[in-house]
Amino acid sequence: MHRILAKQVLSPNVTRLDVHAPRIAQIRQAGQFVIVHLAENSERIPLTIADSNPETGVITLVIQAVGKSTNELVALNAGDFIRDVAGPLGHPTEMISSGHALCIGGGVGTAVVHPIAQSLQKKGVRVTSVIGGRSKEWVIFENELKRYGNVVVCTDDGSYGRKGFVTDAAKEILTNDKVDIVYAVGPVPMMRAVANLTRPLGVHTIVSLNPVMIDGTGMCGGCRVSLGNETKFACCDGPEFDGHLVNFDELQDRLGTYREFEKEALACAPENCRVEKQLAKLS
Ligand code: NAD
Ligand code: FES
Repeated sequence: MHRILAKQVLSPNVTRLDVHAPRIAQIRQAGQFVIVHLAENSERIPLTIADSNPETGVITLVIQAVGKSTNELVALNAGDFIRDVAGPLGHPTEMISSGHALCIGGGVGTAVVHPIAQSLQKKGVRVTSVIGGRSKEWVIFENELKRYGNVVVCTDDGSYGRKGFVTDAAKEILTNDKVDIVYAVGPVPMMRAVANLTRPLGVHTIVSLNPVMIDGTGMCGGCRVSLGNETKFACCDGPEFDGHLVNFDELQDRLGTYREFEKEALACAPENCRVEKQLAKLS
């Protein structure tokens, strides 16, 4: 059992939970994730470890409430327990040890970019982060990322920072500055757009993929993704891959596989789940 030590609502549907998981906190590296199992019959939810403190044994999980299980998770409070937290899983992020890294985070993907920027800065790499949200209230992890380098904030509606998508700001930086590597995490259309931007420039681009995962050990095949002619499993071969090789069409398609089941599960969820709001988002 893992006690929740703190809870913070970061944006309208994104919540941060600080969870006691000392063994994971000691060994996790940037890019790795855990699979959370709230209770005996709960769904297994993969979540990137956004931060950790090996001294206090705390890991930070950032959850976007999009379905029944994630709504149940964010309904928990400090003092509540999570039954299982398995990990760290997946490969650590491919790092560079000098030069300039551009870290691009879209929406909740910004929380995934955070440990990457943190680790790069520790290695002495210059880090520029470009982060975005639909509007000001959806921008997360700005202050945390400012500890590691310059941060450019973008909002779709211009309510905070620059008006426009993260790709607009990223394009300017890629044009005016030397960038050695790009890390991009966010919605599939965003990661695809970043890959399309950097491909002709020949800048190595790493994206973090979020297909449906079940076991997290490479056995079920649920997290299958295609890279060029190769089939990979995001849980054990990734979750980070070369963005120039990813088949984003297939990824987007497979992400919609369980949409109808998710709608049904949400419709049967307890009252404390924000059902109507989420159903509207899914439809
Ligand atoms: P969102 O839809 O609000 O978009 C966030 C930002 O991404 C936008 O403000 C914009 O700057 C950028 N963006 C969106 N569409 C774009 C496009 N077509 N071109 C260029 N830029 C674009 O994001 P959200 O609601 O926070 O959703 C985040 C998504 O990230 C979810 O779909 C979630 O599944 C995914 N996610 C991925 C990972 C991962 O490891 N890859 C982890 C967590 C979440
Ligand atoms: Fe089952 Fe990756 S989650 S193979």
